[in-house]
Amino acid sequence: MLAWLRRRPAPEADRAEGTQTNPAPESVAATEEPLLSVRGVERSFDVGGAKLRVLKGINLDLYPKQLIMLRGRSGSGKTTLMNLMGGLDTPTEGTIHFRGRPFHEWNDDRRTEVRRRDIGFIFQAYALLPLLSAYENVELSLRMAGVPRSEWKARVTSCMELVGLGKRMHHRPFELSGGEQQRVAIAKAIAHRPSLLLADEPTAELDSQMAAQIMNVFREIVARENVTICMTTHDPTIMEVADHVYEMVDGVFARNG
Ligand SMILES: Nc1ncnc2c1ncn2[C@@H]1O[C@H](COP(=O)(O)OP(=O)(O)O)[C@@H](O)[C@H]1O
Ligand SMILES: [Mg+2]
Repeated sequence: MLAWLRRRPAPEADRAEGTQTNPAPESVAATEEPLLSVRGVERSFDVGGAKLRVLKGINLDLYPKQLIMLRGRSGSGKTTLMNLMGGLDTPTEGTIHFRGRPFHEWNDDRRTEVRRRDIGFIFQAYALLPLLSAYENVELSLRMAGVPRSEWKARVTSCMELVGLGKRMHHRPFELSGGEQQRVAIAKAIAHRPSLLLADEPTAELDSQMAAQIMNVFREIVARENVTICMTTHDPTIMEVADHVYEMVDGVFARNG
């Protein structure tokens, strides 16, 4: 089903022992900085007086215009890592730089400011406001990001067309299928032109055909908008469309390949 969405071949280095980071793609100049760089990241939580170590030393680089997947069993730490990458949380140890900004050193307010302008989120549940139309949901994200009102109509329309819903713009969420609602959520998450889109199990509630449509939209977005997508999934059949797959096992990345 996904044969038309070919993944770029994995470089040899991916499979070398001990090499866990995502190599810069050939299209990226050797001097180009990663969009997001995670180094030695650990995250522990206090649970009933005991320390629960969830992430145990994560290294990862995301470069512009990539589609990257994190796979792993439930409880392996994927969501915890996504929250750190998106600046919703800070690590117990290690560093996270987003476009050169040290998220690990910044307070909530500074990270929120960056997040509002430059990061988009998609969740398993579509997170749309039920009383607003699809169009109004997307428009709201432009308003929140401080985009001038004069740009809203053209941008909302082009995002709805990009996700294949140009003809459903004025429907409310309850009038749309799960896959369509998730595509509205994608339009909403990219409308303000973030450079990073984080999607936590975006296809988990969808059947395989709708999941394939979502992956098609993601590839299209990576090709046409200047954005990197990092998503988590359990589904082995959709991983072939990724530029790189990290496998999380109990808070560390397993060797790929
Ligand atoms: N805020 C928290 N407090 C305590 N434990 C947490 C917290 N967030 C996550 N965990 C624990 O961390 C582990 C990994 O969770 P999570 O990152 O959600 O995994 P995944 O997304 O791979 O299913 C789980 O055991 C979870 O219970
Ligand atoms: Mg999770």
